[in-house]
Amino acid sequence: MSYPIITAQEAAMYINNGDGVGISGFTLSGTPKTVLPEVAKRAEEAHAAGKPFKIDLYSGASTGDSIDGVLTRANAIRFRAPFISNPTVRSSINAKEIQYCDLHLSLMAQDLRYGYMGKVNVAILEAIDITPDGKVYLTTAGGIGQTVANLADKIIIERNTYHHTMGLHDVYEPLDPPCRREIPIFNAADRIGKPYVQVDPKKVIGIVEVHLPNEQVVFKELDPVTRKIGENVVGFITRDIKRGIIPATGLPIQSGIGNVANAVLKGLEDCNEIPPLDLYSEVLQDSVIKLMELGRVKAGSTCSLSLSQECLQHVYDNLDFFRDRLILRPSEISNHPEIIRRLGIIAMNTAIEVDLYGCVNSSHICGTRLMNGIGGSGDFARNAYVSIFTCPSTQKGGMISSIVPMVTHADHTEHDVRVVVTEWGVADLRGKNPDERAKTIIENCAHPDYRNLLWDYLKIAKSGHVSHNVAAALGMHATFEREGDMRKTDWSTFA
Ligand code: COA
Repeated sequence: MSYPIITAQEAAMYINNGDGVGISGFTLSGTPKTVLPEVAKRAEEAHAAGKPFKIDLYSGASTGDSIDGVLTRANAIRFRAPFISNPTVRSSINAKEIQYCDLHLSLMAQDLRYGYMGKVNVAILEAIDITPDGKVYLTTAGGIGQTVANLADKIIIERNTYHHTMGLHDVYEPLDPPCRREIPIFNAADRIGKPYVQVDPKKVIGIVEVHLPNEQVVFKELDPVTRKIGENVVGFITRDIKRGIIPATGLPIQSGIGNVANAVLKGLEDCNEIPPLDLYSEVLQDSVIKLMELGRVKAGSTCSLSLSQECLQHVYDNLDFFRDRLILRPSEISNHPEIIRRLGIIAMNTAIEVDLYGCVNSSHICGTRLMNGIGGSGDFARNAYVSIFTCPSTQKGGMISSIVPMVTHADHTEHDVRVVVTEWGVADLRGKNPDERAKTIIENCAHPDYRNLLWDYLKIAKSGHVSHNVAAALGMHATFEREGDMRKTDWSTFA
């Protein structure tokens, strides 16, 4: 079958008010680039004519300004899932202008198949190419491409000649219960699927020709705090290997997103006491490419190549080296609890705040304002061999303590958080009771400016298996909201 070549503007005419649109990609990587901005223009025209125009947008993870930003500014999104990082869409979600469902990323494709969300009317896949019999070779991310292509009535292909990821993908979609079987990945580098997404050629409306890079990923430079956190994590893993808790051959690592996560990976560069490891993660950033070339990372299984343009070009220029070492998977597989538990992943994710007993908030500032979402952190934290959460001990020039009596939003409970690391040290919570957990978190992770305040909280707490003062538990947050500095907390006002 041959497919018509159409413009992005023509493709956008197939997307109507009220449609559910499912897209390829994961983070800024592998998402379609030209059709959705044209949909935004259609929405603006419709609104100018007094007509409604909004879509429901389903993706593997976040997208960049060219999708979430442009569509939000055009007031063109009704519902969004499962993760965001763009400031424009974040503001609209927090203003309740967009309905947002924060979801474990491993569940996104499955929830769409189970019918928990709306219908997928149109799928837009960014691809290197499509064959006449419907084999779609995705670009730089796995995401939910196969699932949305199966569910959609219409498929639009953005053929992006910028990319050369042929042979890196391993596309596998599990059957749903009661027919589900084991997912046969036993090593991070195992391939179990096909290198392409299979679509029904009859659904394909046409191909939009594109030659565009992914939007750029920007990281802050490492600073003394993030560098120290990285060193502390590496020191912890090294000690666990020496104690025989982590096998001497090492275990695969997962690294979350953000500046702190990048610093942790940087810490692995100079550490020869940790054997070369595999990465089994949902994103793979520049630092991992360097670790592969240094021989510190053997294979990288990921859902997304979240690389800078220079680094991605470097991979393309050296594909013979990377082809056997990089595997791109759907998010349902890169984040699948069964595989994470089987492989024994060392999971490293970032917290917004951690409480005295080890509960972690990853997603909501002061319990109300969405930052990005839970992402894949919960998929990995619950099922990891060891689940590490990192964060700087303070934020906003010391006015906020990341260690608090009680988190304002619980993404990961104390049962899923095994180790907490800040620039001050490591709190190993494994096998400890609540009082011991509080002690090690205050002594090893809290900033010295806040240690006495946290000890004083425990003095006014009602003693039980877990000690809390329900009136004062969020007192540090209340003080911050009132006075702009948690250090001004006066427990006597909450007694
Ligand atoms: N109170 C107020 N603001 C806080 C805060 C707190 N307790 N903790 C962090 N912040 C703010 C920071 O000040 C910073 O704000 P800025 O952008 O105005 O400078 C912002 O949040 C990001 O914090 P930063 O310290 O730079 O961390 P990061 O870039 O490493 O991101 C998360 C941290 C938690 C937001 C990020 O890792 C995330 O979204 N995690 C959830 C999803 C996830 O873990 N996915 C990975 C699975 S593989």
